[in-house]
Amino acid sequence: IKKVTTHQLQEMKLRGEKIAMLTAYDYSMARIVDSAGIDVILVGDSASNVMAGNETTLPMSLEQMIYHASSVIKAVSRAFVVVDLPFGTYQGNSKRALQSAIRIMKEAGAHSVKMEGGAEIKDSVERVLSAGIPVMGHLGLTPQSIFKFGTYSVRAKEEAEAQKLLEDALLLQKLGCFGIVLEKIPANLAEKVSKQLTIPTIGIGAGAGTDGQVLVLHDMLGINQEFKPRFLRRYADLHTVMSEAISNYVKDVKAQDFPNESESY
Ligand code: KIV
Ligand code: NA
Repeated sequence: IKKVTTHQLQEMKLRGEKIAMLTAYDYSMARIVDSAGIDVILVGDSASNVMAGNETTLPMSLEQMIYHASSVIKAVSRAFVVVDLPFGTYQGNSKRALQSAIRIMKEAGAHSVKMEGGAEIKDSVERVLSAGIPVMGHLGLTPQSIFKFGTYSVRAKEEAEAQKLLEDALLLQKLGCFGIVLEKIPANLAEKVSKQLTIPTIGIGAGAGTDGQVLVLHDMLGINQEFKPRFLRRYADLHTVMSEAISNYVKDVKAQDFPNESESY
C-alpha cells in the first residue's frame, strides 16, 4: 500500500481532489478507518471529550496524547497521521513546543503534529518545523481557547476577526505548515482563505469550499447521540446498533439462552 504523504496532500489540492480526514484514538477503530480509505487520521485532543468524558479539551496531557497516538499508529498502514499537541505543551514557549513535538514523533511514531493558533504561536511553529517535523495549523473556533471565546458559536463573522484569520493562515503557510484546519467559520471566508493559500485547508463546519473535510469519528458514526451541530452529518446510528446488541446479550444471559451447546467446550 502506498502511504499518504504531505506531498500527496499538496498534489490533491492542485488537482482538486478533496482530502478526507477523520479522528481516531485507539487501535481497533483506527484499523477500520485506515482500511476504509481515509487520507488523514487525526489523533485529536477531542479524545478529552470523546474518550475521557471531559467538558473541554484543556485537561488532556502529553502522555495521554502519546498513549492514544501510539495505539493509532500501530493500526495504520496507509493514512497520514496528525497528532494534536495538547493545551499547555506548546503555547508561549517554543523550546517546550519542540520537546513536546519530538516526544510525540519519537514515542508514538506520529507523522506530524497540529497546533491551534496563528501569530501568537509563530515561534513554536517555526521551531518545531526547524526540526523537520511537519506541522498542521488550526484556526477559527480553536477549542483550546474556549474560555477566551466563551461560546462554541461560529468564529470570524466580523470583518476584523476574518481579516486576522486570513493573515494567520498566510503566516502559517509562509512558516512552512503543510495544511490548516479551519473550524466553524463562515463558508465564504473558508473558501476565500482556501483559494488564497497554496497549501490545503481542511474544514469542519466551514462549508464546501475547503480542500478537505474532517469530522470526529464518534460523532459521524452516531455513537454520540447528544451532540448535533448543523455541520455534522451522521453516517450511521451506532448508538442504536450497539445498544440493541448489548441489551440482547443481557437478555440472552438472563434467559440462559447464551451460551448454547455449540458455543461451549
Ligand atoms: O481534536 C479534534 O478532533 C480536532 C478536529 C475537530 C479538527 O482538532
Ligand atoms: Na483538536
